[in-house]
Amino acid sequence: MAKIQLAALLLLVLFCLGNADHPAPPGTFAIPPSPQRAGDPTAGYDYLLYGDMVGRGIPLAVYKKVSGGDSPDDLGRTGDSQGISFQFNVVEAPNGVKVVAPTCLNCHAEKLNGALVIGLGNNSTDHTYDHAGNFRAADFAVQLRFGKQSPEWEAYYPLSRGYKAVGPYIQTKVRGPNPADKIFAALAAHRKADDLSWLPEAQFEVPVEVVPTDVPAWWLLKKKHALYYNGLGTGDFARLSSASGMLVMADSAEARRIDERMVDLIAWIRTIEPPAYPFPVDATLAAQGKLLFEKTCKKCHGSYGDDASYPNLVVKLDIVGTDSLLAQAYRQYPEYTEWYNRSWYAQEPYGATLQPTWGYIAPPLDGVWATAPYLHNGSVPTIDDLLNSPQRPVYWKRSFDNSDYNPEKLGWRYSAETGKTDSKTYDTTLPGYGNGGHTFGDKLTTEERKAVLEYLKTL
Ligand code: HEC
Ligand code: HEC
Repeated sequence: MAKIQLAALLLLVLFCLGNADHPAPPGTFAIPPSPQRAGDPTAGYDYLLYGDMVGRGIPLAVYKKVSGGDSPDDLGRTGDSQGISFQFNVVEAPNGVKVVAPTCLNCHAEKLNGALVIGLGNNSTDHTYDHAGNFRAADFAVQLRFGKQSPEWEAYYPLSRGYKAVGPYIQTKVRGPNPADKIFAALAAHRKADDLSWLPEAQFEVPVEVVPTDVPAWWLLKKKHALYYNGLGTGDFARLSSASGMLVMADSAEARRIDERMVDLIAWIRTIEPPAYPFPVDATLAAQGKLLFEKTCKKCHGSYGDDASYPNLVVKLDIVGTDSLLAQAYRQYPEYTEWYNRSWYAQEPYGATLQPTWGYIAPPLDGVWATAPYLHNGSVPTIDDLLNSPQRPVYWKRSFDNSDYNPEKLGWRYSAETGKTDSKTYDTTLPGYGNGGHTFGDKLTTEERKAVLEYLKTL
């Protein structure tokens, strides 16, 4: 009798485990949510367009002279910001000088079919050369106009210092991928962990090779429990995102001011919706695709529409099989995460932590049609290629014209090349740039793949 009861109990336990809301497939784990501060989205959007998340910059007069001050009015801004590129804000430095400073939109806005999409990751900037050279020219221009003892120089110099410190570490091998992970590691090497003040000499060695990444779309954030491709960033998202201040700020007192405003910006980011697919969709085919998606993809990527759910899974490297360099880098060079986790940014209340994993988050696929190229390193030009791994090009080249979109394959039009001829050729044989893995679409027939593609257009 006792034996039967025990067996029944065991069965009951197994049944319950197997019926949890999101049973994580083998080789994956679900990231638990962490509490977030509530913010005001309207104030956050205002901060994005006018705020001083980077509080030093090129004196407005010098910027206008060099750039002409007649950039297109992409953001519809008023006042001093009119005629300034969307990648910069006009802000007052702490000493009152008006400066033009880089913002989040350097990396988190991109043009698609001719229109600027805020929140779409930049996938076109050329990071293959050392931008620090531009700052040697800017140093000269500011000194010539105002002299080195001026308030203008004081309001400018930290930007030049920051870029020169990171310059040698952030060159990618091909155009498109972003070196942001390395920017923050290199800046951390120059900041004291407790009060975040600047150190002229790097306090730990920063590896020279860049781990290339794409930039995730901001509209996915509202579903996520951790930030970054490998789920590295946990805790308070505003605290994590406020690290952009490390480029120029004086110390932790300034970091605190940025952090307080970042709460609103994160609240705004969590309201954005993906852009709708702009071309016709075959509804019957998409409905067939939905069924296939639910059978093959849902367990990792979640479901969409009325029964939307998202499991927040990190998929281990041996299951997803995509380029391992990004996930491994944080384990191989732990200095940066160790610095972060004892720095001002990790302090409570609202602390954040960097916790490396051995895998990548299976991202939500909302608006995925717009976010080519694919995978965390942007190594695959279209979703059609992503879902048919033998077909992926080893070397591929695109025009970088943002209207060169291919609605059949969902992604960029490209030519397959036989080798790397210039920075526009994506070379998947380089370390960190590999296009292998994620073979989950390979078993689909050509017809089934077409149906899944059609369904993805509707997300
Ligand atoms: C130099 C380029 C750059 C700038 C500037 C930048 N970011 Fe990012 N951001 C990135 C990249 C690249 C990633 C992805 C890194 C990774 O996952 O390894 C990212 C990731 C994020 C994420 C996590 C998204 C996700 O789904 O995991 C958030 C949120 C974010 N950035 C917010 C901001 C905010 C807010 C600012 C301005 C205060 C900013 N970023 C400035 C390049 C940049
Ligand atoms: C075992 C889990 C798993 C399954 C099953 C799976 N995926 Fe993924 N998928 C991932 C992970 C993890 C990534 C991120 C990999 C990376 O960036 O290195 C990803 C990335 C993607 C991307 C690229 C997203 C981007 O913005 O770069 C697309 C598109 C995608 N998957 C579609 C699908 C489709 C369609 C299916 C079903 C045919 C599918 N996936 C099945 C785990 C999975």
